Amino acid sequence: MTTDVSDPNELDQRVFPPTARRDPETGELRLGVVSASTLISQYGSPLYVLDEDVARARARTIRVALEAEAERIGTTATVYYAGKALLCIDVARWMSEEGLAVDVASGGELAVALAAGVDPSRIGFHGNNKSEQEIGRAVGAGVGTIVIDSEIETERVAAAARAAGIRQRVRLRVNSGVHASTHDYLATAHEDQKFGQPLSDAPRLVAAILAHDSLEFVGLHCHIGSQIFAADGFRESARRLMAVYPELARLAGHSIPELNLGGGFGIAYTSAQAEDVPALADVARELADMVADGAREFEVPVPHLAFEPGRIVIGPAGVTLYTVGTTKPVPLAGSDAAAPADLGHSERLYVSVDGGMSDNARPALYGADYQVRIANRTSGADPALVRVVGKHCEAGDIVVHRDVLPGDVRAGDTLVVAATGAYCWSLASNYNHLPRPPIVAVSGRGARLIVHGETEDDLLAKNVSWRPEGDPPTA
Ligand code: LLP
Repeated sequence: MTTDVSDPNELDQRVFPPTARRDPETGELRLGVVSASTLISQYGSPLYVLDEDVARARARTIRVALEAEAERIGTTATVYYAGKALLCIDVARWMSEEGLAVDVASGGELAVALAAGVDPSRIGFHGNNKSEQEIGRAVGAGVGTIVIDSEIETERVAAAARAAGIRQRVRLRVNSGVHASTHDYLATAHEDQKFGQPLSDAPRLVAAILAHDSLEFVGLHCHIGSQIFAADGFRESARRLMAVYPELARLAGHSIPELNLGGGFGIAYTSAQAEDVPALADVARELADMVADGAREFEVPVPHLAFEPGRIVIGPAGVTLYTVGTTKPVPLAGSDAAAPADLGHSERLYVSVDGGMSDNARPALYGADYQVRIANRTSGADPALVRVVGKHCEAGDIVVHRDVLPGDVRAGDTLVVAATGAYCWSLASNYNHLPRPPIVAVSGRGARLIVHGETEDDLLAKNVSWRPEGDPPTA
């Protein structure tokens, strides 16, 4: 998607973290204040690198933008960081220190948020199949809100709250029938997917929630999709939810205090996408206007707003470093795999790196695009059409489908792939018994390990029959 970039050494600041710079003398990439080669020699390759300053600044800016829009329409907002994008103790701390609440989607994510010292009342708990144990733990920990995803959960959460002797705040996740893809949205009466309840069922389900003294219903929740560029889907969904608020208020005997509009704000993974990504402030303004209009039209007070951005907060703060192992030119003329735009090139250079779909499943799962640069040097060699591939036994093990790099890219080079902060480490696997890479945080102060990588021994140790070398076999 990015073959039109004139200089394949350029680090597009709309895609790479703004603190990623090349050393003016050596051309080497620096992340924060640390060079790529120092990071690799200290922490190994592949390596996830998160820029703490960038992550914090993004979290703060996004929170402030959403709060400002809420204030403009006469209400307030809570911004939850969606931990599914990447949750470890340090990131959870950064987010809460920057004033964000934290959204967790499993008992494991809840454990991380609690271990990070996140105020439990600022945690929201999601999921379409929370176990009774998970619900019990969440209620016991004093989690601020639990999002009820199905009818059966109402009973489960009510019972847990009753047993704990508390009144648990809950939201109901509804399916507004709006499903957004990157550029447009589809609005239907019902969506055929596992999350939430059809909006038309909301009054009946809210009545069931209201029947429990141990539950406090605070509002509806919806999340229409992820990596969304256009505001129209968010707007339509918000309008549909607001339209139900008068009926819910009649059932409750008072106005419904909150509306949670989920996350899903898109980011630029490539320079080409950067053209299309709207400013969050613009999307937020349109959304807030819709809520204000809806409140007027349906004659209800403007509710407190909640949002759950994940990718837009952490995605652009992360990059992945890899080491090139092999390169291989493949002729394109007559190739079935070549896209029409590739055929201006006589060959594609396959560049194999030391990770792949185990550390970034997104290209294989979603056909996601990424942008790549040589990190350890710049080069004046003619640009080559490249595909960066991993080392797994799968033809679909692609890290960067299509980009250009200086044609002398070679074994031993360090590559940097942009915008890997969200849904890469969190979706990582051990396919082909590859250990998951560590996460290093860089900042203006240096670099520090925040999540250990795995070793082959860690993986071997999962085998009950494995004994480390030197340990006597057990009978
Ligand atoms: N809230 C709820 C209820 C969600 O389900 C999600 C994402 C979010 C918030 C955060 O969405 P974000 O702002 O990060 O787009 N693995 C996929 C994305 C799955 C998103 C799932 N839910 C990917 O890598 O593109």
